Amino acid sequence: MNQISTITADVYWTDDEPLECVSVVPEIPGTSSFSFRAPSGRPFNFRAGQFLTLELPVPDETLYRTYTISSSPSRPRLITITAKAQPDSIGTRWMMENLKPGMQINARGPAGQFTLDSGKVEKLLFISAGSGVTPMMSMTTDLWDAGRRLDVVFINCARRPSEIIFRQRLEEMACREPGLDLKFVVEEPDPYRPWTGYQGRFNQLMLGLMAPDFLERTVYCCGPQPFMQSVRDALSGFGYDMAGYHEESFGAPPDQSSAPPVADLPADDLPEIHFATSGRHYRCEPEETVLLAARSAGLPIPSGCTFGICGSCKIRKLSGEVHMVHNGGITPEDIEAGYILACCSQPLGKISIEV
Ligand code: FES
Repeated sequence: MNQISTITADVYWTDDEPLECVSVVPEIPGTSSFSFRAPSGRPFNFRAGQFLTLELPVPDETLYRTYTISSSPSRPRLITITAKAQPDSIGTRWMMENLKPGMQINARGPAGQFTLDSGKVEKLLFISAGSGVTPMMSMTTDLWDAGRRLDVVFINCARRPSEIIFRQRLEEMACREPGLDLKFVVEEPDPYRPWTGYQGRFNQLMLGLMAPDFLERTVYCCGPQPFMQSVRDALSGFGYDMAGYHEESFGAPPDQSSAPPVADLPADDLPEIHFATSGRHYRCEPEETVLLAARSAGLPIPSGCTFGICGSCKIRKLSGEVHMVHNGGITPEDIEAGYILACCSQPLGKISIEV
């Protein structure tokens, strides 16, 4: 009997159970894949393109770090994130040096809106740079495992050929699936290794060459902000209908433009936070978020993404109003129950929170 078909919703892993590390696989220098199982054996329920927030017990504190899942929901017994340690990294560096098979850590999620429309069979264009390839790997594997005929142009940009994450796995899939059209772009070749593919920074000219029918494709883009900006510029410069464009916006601040200017508030409504649990009062700077205010008051609130997507800064508001511009990190039910995301909420007048 097909094991997956027997899984019902109540037996899936939930984030009140820790994750147990089962493997740490180096992908390229400075980048590793960390796979986890549920100690209870429960399978994972998520959609390709979603992310997990890990609680990393670095010395003296807990760091919350958000990583896109690189494994596929079609293989639900394990969940894998693939992380690149930037030079100034603390959390990912801790994982590289300390996380070993058998260790358990807490996690929150899976969550996120950067997912395929499962109801549609589409012509897709995946464009990623560096570790932005992880959600694309998950999506491609998911489509592959579903037995769907792929029609995917898969573009990945890296500094050098040796820094292309998942290159071998992708090439093996493309060897067996003509509908997976792989294109790699590198900024420079590796020393003493000829590179015959695209070279330079991603640009409009490359887009036209790599995916001549891109106007017909739904686009998913993930990578650093300047890279995603260049992709948006290339697409819109060619008249692409941006309604078909999706990006994973880690690092993007929420749009605060609709926040009411603090100066317009009545004087006795100037923002002030009562931290009810600790009994402290704090007068906010104009447009200060609850997260920053708590930090300034010496009452740090756990946080991960800091732009309203991961949910790790969720706290209960006891009274007062906030202006919250989130990116999907909180559910309508949570808001109804009085919760806010501290990182993207500005107090409107006096508020009281459970911190
Ligand atoms: S820190 Fe991620 S939602 Fe606030």
